[in-house]
Amino acid sequence: MDVENTIEGIRNRIGKARRAGGTIGLVPTMGALHAGHRTLMAAGRAGCDYLVVSIFVNPTQFGPGEDYQAYPRTPAEDLAACEDAGADVVFAPGVGQMYPTEPLTTVSVSKLTETLCGRRRPGHLDGVCTVVAKLFNIVEPDRAWFGAKDYQQSVVVRRMVRDLNFPVEIVVEPTVREPDGLAVSSRNAYLTPEQRRQAPELYAALRAAENMITERQPPAEEIVAAVRGHISGKVVEGEIEYIQVVDPETLEDVETTDRPVVVALAVRLGKARLIDNVRVG
Ligand code: PAF
Repeated sequence: MDVENTIEGIRNRIGKARRAGGTIGLVPTMGALHAGHRTLMAAGRAGCDYLVVSIFVNPTQFGPGEDYQAYPRTPAEDLAACEDAGADVVFAPGVGQMYPTEPLTTVSVSKLTETLCGRRRPGHLDGVCTVVAKLFNIVEPDRAWFGAKDYQQSVVVRRMVRDLNFPVEIVVEPTVREPDGLAVSSRNAYLTPEQRRQAPELYAALRAAENMITERQPPAEEIVAAVRGHISGKVVEGEIEYIQVVDPETLEDVETTDRPVVVALAVRLGKARLIDNVRVG
């Protein structure tokens, strides 16, 4: 496996792979690789000829006061995980490589970013879209893999690709969970043992919501109240940021659940901001 830190270097390698007739795949990550990333890399390995994994903690998707500095960085373990997964090359640029000058250009998707995480983390999804657009321009992948845990991110990136005619197919892989149901996330490392014990209740609340919807399609506000009640009772230190029932494509709040919906939530638990969702119907 090769490791490239420069745009010129990665472009040279990818150019060779493409001239040899291979399809190019990209798994974009911010490192601190876990089982969720391993699923993306396995899907990537199976879904292209030349697999690029990018590792870049992107400063522009963190707001002021967010955890950019504290974000876990585990470079040696990450390279071993990429090697294990059969990546052909890791692209691990520094900030100076990706943003050599103050970036004056931002890729911003409207509407879809005005709800859920986008509403609570202003600029976050612009930072994601901008860096993903840059990575797509650098790597020119035929396919790229994203995780369903960041549901809004996957919808927004798909829309950016469609609106801007990036010739890349976006593949979204299901959320990977710990045996107790907690969605695997790099930020789970911030949880104290007691918080970690309570954190699986977020998914338990979403599963209960899913059952309610499957059984009797109650109004969305009843779902929100039930999820809120479950979390307030069982995740005592949790501060609920949002619980929403939304249309899977427009991400607009829905009133009824007799149609496909996504139930999504964000909860602050100690130093961690945890997100999760289920898609029903
Ligand atoms: O999901 C992530 O890890 C990041 O948002 C991404 C897509 C790698 C962009 O920095």
